[in-house]
Amino acid sequence: MRHPQFPYLLSPLRLGSITVSNRIVFAAHLTNLAQANRPGPDLVAYYEERARGGAGLIITEEQSVHPTDHAYERLIRAYDDSVIPDYEELTLRIHAHGTPVVAQINHNGGQASSIYTRLPVWAPSPVADPLFREVPKEMEPADIAAVVAAYARVARHVQAGGFDGAELQASHSSLLRQFLSPYANRRSDGYGGSLTARMRYPLEVARAVRAVMPRGMPLGARITGNDWVEGGLTPDDAASFAKALKAAGLDFVCISSGGVSADARPTLVANTNVQFAEKVKREAGIATRTVGLIATPKQAEAIIAEGKADMVALARAMLDDPHWGWRAAHVLGAEVARPKQYQRAAPKVWAGAAFRD
Ligand SMILES: Cc1cc2nc3c(=O)[nH]c(=O)nc-3n(C[C@H](O)[C@H](O)[C@H](O)COP(=O)(O)O)c2cc1C
Repeated sequence: MRHPQFPYLLSPLRLGSITVSNRIVFAAHLTNLAQANRPGPDLVAYYEERARGGAGLIITEEQSVHPTDHAYERLIRAYDDSVIPDYEELTLRIHAHGTPVVAQINHNGGQASSIYTRLPVWAPSPVADPLFREVPKEMEPADIAAVVAAYARVARHVQAGGFDGAELQASHSSLLRQFLSPYANRRSDGYGGSLTARMRYPLEVARAVRAVMPRGMPLGARITGNDWVEGGLTPDDAASFAKALKAAGLDFVCISSGGVSADARPTLVANTNVQFAEKVKREAGIATRTVGLIATPKQAEAIIAEGKADMVALARAMLDDPHWGWRAAHVLGAEVARPKQYQRAAPKVWAGAAFRD
């Protein structure tokens, strides 16, 4: 529900047992700032700046669940216990700004690289993507069980580190999306074939993670609204998957698209995934976020006001402007809390702010 004094974008939202102060979410994205495969001071400072700058919720870059998952050099190894003290520092510093922070947890599946791991690359089927070339190893039942357990282990690390919740990466470059997508999953052992069978593995992971997280601690998933490729996932699949995730106890979904293949032909226009989010929100009845080519406060406000999504996530717009939330408040005629050192630039005391729209 919108508070009558606030724009839709700046209205609070309940997620599980927490309340986020507005609908602006800093989207998960790899930053290249982690140090020694753990979050470090640079990453903490990066998130802290966006928390200070008005983001209602921060989703971290992907946290890796298993040693077979390594898609880039600075990937954070969340499966290693030694990450917990860094997590404590990161969450403490973000919380100091009143902003909740959710850890995105992921295994890149067939889009990992053995250059980093010196281990076989694991995927549902030995299907190489032209972008990656390496032919992955088809996961055996023991591999499948090991990765379910790895997700649950990382969910415990996330809690121990003080995060407010977790987000399963089940879109783009993720093993969960690969199991779900007929384009990447050619299995015939009960984990492939029909949509129900392809959903089986991501749902096993979702239930295992939910089981180790306290009730009320927000758990969500980032899912694909459209693979944009012949024989890939469709918006109808996304709605069915979101319904199943809700039944598995998840609190929210984020609707993205693409990332499945070099053959994909996405339509890259403003609000690119909003149509898919709107469908999922309507059909699955779960708190829904959209992401992709959202740049201006008025654009974001319209998405929420028109009921097409409950939250918007921004990666590049907030990469560009860490205080995007302050600008949104100004453009939408509202005020937002600023630390003392920044108050002299607030629109109500600085006439120059009027020229920044
Ligand atoms: C440098 C970069 C790294 C990214 N890494 C991730 C990631 O780790 N997990 C994820 O779910 N999305 C990742 N993304 C995708 C973004 O979250 C987002 O969906 C995409 O950039 C589109 O949103 P935008 O138009 O607001 O940038 C990444 C995007 C960028 C630009």
